[in-house]
Amino acid sequence: MPAPLAPPRPVRIIGVGSCLGAPIFGPAAGPRALKEGRIDDQLRKRGIPAQWQTLLEPSAPKPPQPPLQERLGTMSALLHDLADEVAAICQAGQLPLVLGGDHAIAAGTWRGVSRTLGARGRLGLIWIDAHLDAHTDRTTHSGNIHGMPLAALLGVGDESLTGLPGPHLDPAHVAIVGARSWEPEEKALLERLGVRIFYMPEVKRRGLPAVLADALAIAREGTAGFGVSVDLDSMDCASLPATTCLVPDGLDPQALTDSLHCLRSCADLLAFEIVEYVPERDRDGSGARRVVELAAAALGPTSLVLRQREELFGARNYAPLPVVFSRGEGVWLWDVDGHRYLDMMSAYSAVSFGHSHPRLVKALTEQAGRLALTSRAYSNDRLPLLLEQLSALLGYDRALPVNTGLEAVETALKAARKWAHTIKHVPDGQAEIIVCDNNFHGRSTTIVSFSSEEQYRHGFGPLTPGFRSIPFGDADALEAAITPHTAAFLFEPIQGEGGIVIPPAGWLARCAEICRRHDVLLIADEVQTGLGRSGRLLACEHEGVRPDGVILGKALGGGLLPVAAFLADERVMQVFQPGDHGSTFGGNPLAAAVATEALAVLTEERLIERSAQLGARFLARLQAIDNPLIREVRGRGLMIGLELDTHRVPARIAAEWLLARGLMTKDTHEKVLRFAPPLIITEAELDAAARTIEEALADLAQRFPAGVTP
Ligand SMILES: Cc1ncc(COP(=O)(O)O)c(C=O)c1O
Repeated sequence: MPAPLAPPRPVRIIGVGSCLGAPIFGPAAGPRALKEGRIDDQLRKRGIPAQWQTLLEPSAPKPPQPPLQERLGTMSALLHDLADEVAAICQAGQLPLVLGGDHAIAAGTWRGVSRTLGARGRLGLIWIDAHLDAHTDRTTHSGNIHGMPLAALLGVGDESLTGLPGPHLDPAHVAIVGARSWEPEEKALLERLGVRIFYMPEVKRRGLPAVLADALAIAREGTAGFGVSVDLDSMDCASLPATTCLVPDGLDPQALTDSLHCLRSCADLLAFEIVEYVPERDRDGSGARRVVELAAAALGPTSLVLRQREELFGARNYAPLPVVFSRGEGVWLWDVDGHRYLDMMSAYSAVSFGHSHPRLVKALTEQAGRLALTSRAYSNDRLPLLLEQLSALLGYDRALPVNTGLEAVETALKAARKWAHTIKHVPDGQAEIIVCDNNFHGRSTTIVSFSSEEQYRHGFGPLTPGFRSIPFGDADALEAAITPHTAAFLFEPIQGEGGIVIPPAGWLARCAEICRRHDVLLIADEVQTGLGRSGRLLACEHEGVRPDGVILGKALGGGLLPVAAFLADERVMQVFQPGDHGSTFGGNPLAAAVATEALAVLTEERLIERSAQLGARFLARLQAIDNPLIREVRGRGLMIGLELDTHRVPARIAAEWLLARGLMTKDTHEKVLRFAPPLIITEAELDAAARTIEEALADLAQRFPAGVTP
């Protein structure tokens, strides 16, 4: 039983709908729009205990704007209220999330926070902004108060802003990130005070994560806690139009979001602020979504908390590697703590097209908004087109669509049995199916009945009879096992779960000949090997074999949905009559739309050729690694297994070792590491992966010397 969960810190949202400091009204409407868009609810669904505390909305001055002194007075009154609200939340042990109109309000937020620290120490602040916001009433060119909050927080400027109760910030603990627009006076002031400014060129040169790490050190080391203020105008206006700064070349919104994940594990983060969301410029809603993403990135649960919840509330049928992913794009994945990983597993080949392939996501969302499910009690306008496309691409008369791989295997087993009983005239109930030792075809009760893995079977009986298992790669054993009752031979062209086991050359061609001679169906489970994974459309093509039935799954769903199918000619498919077989979701229009697009991407992006070329190069590269831990490296296309000497190191440890270096793989059968990246991976990415593998294994070889059992 894991230790009880620490209660997450409650988040209280303060909206400050103010444009008192700005020349335009736009951002004043932001907090109310976010409230009406239920940002609190969206954050709760992301595991953040967020509630609205209050929405402060001072009346905006009507044009012509009153004199600066008068506006400063009005602003000051608002900042007092805001600082009091923020301080009360901090004192209650909660975390304020301040959603502000213009950035001037920050002069209240951080005075409220620093006030609560008292003798505990100073407040550090990271200011992420296009501007420096460090004017005073005397240096401002525009007369706009939104150019002054940082100066005011540092104790410089008009008394109405600097005179709020609570200590000023110590410039040594303030860092500005992403500045790209300023006036000379404010830059001179900050430099005189010694504030560290990470201008945009430095961010571009060093990368945001490195810069943010430095900024965190400035804000955290020697302070009692720190805060982060994000002005949305720090981001590139081309990718985030719903804000105020039109100067190009800002931060990339997604890169900023990814980087903020590191804040989750900072127990000394005292408050978080996001300002200058302009709803009237947010035509597609991307601005509001980005505000939620930024807040969720910074305040969401850590991987530790999420793993604890999974352990506490989930059945224990998996032992996942210690990582919690929250985003994927192409060949990359990001965990909830902001680390990036190269995906060399592709969800067991299901993500062959990479994560969130734009064409597939488009197909999914368009079809989801049109029609997702009707059941097969009716026809829909997407499935017939997919069936025709499958037939044309794979060269079989018919396809029977289902959802998961094991359903497609079950479909094949039912087809084979009924074919044997009705067409081959095997006495009813006596059809036999031959399978291979070390197989993996899924985990239904029937399928585990013929698994050679004791754990898959133990305790799950009574098991389904009618299966015989022979050694993989042994054609003579197949011939010897065939009886007049044999319906089919079911095999994987390359055993995936079994440890990327490649059969001897000529085996499959001989099996095909034997099956043909004995009128036994040859059924290939290409759930993992199919659709380009092995460098051919189907792995059976490596031996020029055309099976009587083919099982597809995984990649067919484009990495977005479970889509699988059993394909065969009329000779076999004729056995299915209406009512014989089916499932509510099988062949639904959403799945059909995605699968149709997935097949188009496969051919149009020439992924099969890619798999063959890149796979051969990567295999050769791995085979060239000289390391005593490696027993063998084998594979076809981008389906590669690296067998380790388990006397030296278990594959699970090696997988964790690689994970810690940002490379996702998976151990199988305790001794093999599998590498099956998305087929869209580039040569450079594969070369980098090979280097990481080489270095990690070299390191492991030193730590696990010969003769020392791990
Ligand atoms: C060869 C093979 N067949 C069938 C399956 C079962 O597929 P699913 O997990 O989608 O049910 C798998 C899954 O790994 C597989 O590798």
